[in-house]
Amino acid sequence: ATAQIGVTGLAVMGRNLARNFARRGYTVAVHNRSYAKTASLVADHGTEGTFVASESMADFVASLAVPRKVVIMVKAGGPTDAVIAELVPLLAAGDIVIDAGNAHFPDTIRREAELAAHGLHFVGTGVSGGEEGALNGPSIMPGGSPESYAVLGPILESIAAQVDGVPCCTYVGANGAGHFVKMVHNGIEYADMQLIAEAYDLLRLGLGATAAQISEIFAQWNTGDLESFLIEISADVLAHTDPVTGAAFVDVVLDQAEQKGTGRWTVQNALDLGVPITGIAEATFARALSGSVPQRAAAVGVLPAHAAAWDIAPEDRAAFIEDVRLALYASKVVAYSQGFDQIAAASAEFGWDVDRGAMARIWRGGCIIRARFLNRITEAYERDAHLPLLLADAYFTGVMDDGVGAWRRIVAAAALHGVPTPGFSSSLSYYDGVRAERLPAALIQAQRDFFGAHTYRRVDRAGTFHTEWTGDRSETAL
Ligand code: 6PG
Repeated sequence: ATAQIGVTGLAVMGRNLARNFARRGYTVAVHNRSYAKTASLVADHGTEGTFVASESMADFVASLAVPRKVVIMVKAGGPTDAVIAELVPLLAAGDIVIDAGNAHFPDTIRREAELAAHGLHFVGTGVSGGEEGALNGPSIMPGGSPESYAVLGPILESIAAQVDGVPCCTYVGANGAGHFVKMVHNGIEYADMQLIAEAYDLLRLGLGATAAQISEIFAQWNTGDLESFLIEISADVLAHTDPVTGAAFVDVVLDQAEQKGTGRWTVQNALDLGVPITGIAEATFARALSGSVPQRAAAVGVLPAHAAAWDIAPEDRAAFIEDVRLALYASKVVAYSQGFDQIAAASAEFGWDVDRGAMARIWRGGCIIRARFLNRITEAYERDAHLPLLLADAYFTGVMDDGVGAWRRIVAAAALHGVPTPGFSSSLSYYDGVRAERLPAALIQAQRDFFGAHTYRRVDRAGTFHTEWTGDRSETAL
C-alpha cells in the first residue's frame, strides 16, 4: 500500500486530475470501470510520475496508504452512488472519499451523513477549470469535515492553481458546502457568459461590427477591469474563421444554448431560499428561450417589432462601445453580488459559515469565472466580513457611479432598437429596486389583504393588521 491518493473514473477530468497529482510527485492509484482507460493513461502518461494501476476496485483500494484518500470522478447522480456503494465495504474508519464531480449539493449532504455513519469522511468538492484546469491547476472547493481537510487540504492545495503564491483551494464548509459553492460558481458562469453575449449582440447590431472587429474590442477590454478568462476566450472565438465555409465561426454555430443543469440547480435553490439572483436566472432562461424552437418559429417575422433602426454616427461609435463596456461591468457586478447573497443565505440555512472573501480568492485562478475583479470582491469582504450587499461596498459604489449612466443608456437603446438584453436589463431593474427607498410592494401587500385577508404591516405602528375590505374598511390589529 504505497499510493498517497487514488482516482477512480478516468474519463478526461479524472485522467487529468490523476496526472496533475502524479506531476506534483504523489504516487497515484488509478482505476476505471473498464481497464482499457487505466491502461491507456499509464501507457500515454506513465512517465509523468508514479501510477499504480489496478483492474479491480479491491486491488485499487488495497494499493492506497492509510488513511486512504479516494477521488471519485464519475457522472453525478446514480453513477456516483454506484461507485460509493462499491467502495464503502472496502474502506476503513478514517478513510476519505472525495467526490470531485458536479454533484447536486443535497446529494452531497445525504452521502456525507451516510458515510459518516460508517466512520468515513466524505468530501464533496467543486473542481472548476475544465480539462485544462484539472491538468494544470484547477480551482478547488472542498466541503466535508475540518478533520478531513487537515489531511487532504495540503494535497489539494498543491495541485490547485496558484495566484500570487496563494492556492485557489480552501476549506469551504461542512457536508454540501463545497458543491453548493461550485453550483453558484456555475450560475455566475452562466450570467457572465450571457452578459458577454449581450455585449457582443449590441456591438454587432448597433455598430454593424464584424465578429473580428468585436474580437478586437473584447481583447482591448481584457486589458482593464473586465480582464477575465471568459472575455479572453470570447475574443478568441470571435476571431476564429470556420474552415469549412470561411465564414466567422460564430455565424455557423446553431444559436441554441444548452446546459447540463448546474445553472438550473442554482436558480431552483435561489427560489427555495428566496434570494433574488435575477442575473443568473435570466441567463438560464435565455438559454431556455434560445432552445424554444417551436415558439421561436411561431414568432419570427410574425411578432411586430416597431423598433427603431440603429444609426450611430461615426464620431459616436467609441462612446457607444464604452457604454456597452460599462453596462457589462455593472451588470456583472450585480450578478456576483446576487450570487454572494445566495451563498450567504445558504450558509446561514445550512450552518456552513462560508467565508465569501475566501471564495472570491479561490476563484481568482483556475476556474472558468477567473477574473481580475475578484480581487476587488475579496478586498470588500476583508473590509467587512458581514457585508450585507456586495454592491454597497465603497469600491463597487464607485464602479456604479462611473457606469450607471451608460448602463441606463444601453438598456434604453436596446429596448428602443428591439435587441434582447435580459441580463443587462434585469440587472439594472434589480439595481434600481434594491436602492429604492420605497417599493410598490406596499400595493401588493394591500392587494393580498384585500382578496385573501393575508394581513399587512404598517410603516407607523408595530403589529399585523387586516382591513375589513367588504365592510366599513376599518382596520383590525391582529
Ligand atoms: C467548470 C465548468 C464545468 C462545466 C459546466 C458547463 O467550472 O469547469 O463550470 O463545470 O463546463 O458544467 O455547464 P453547462 O453544460 O451547464 O453549460
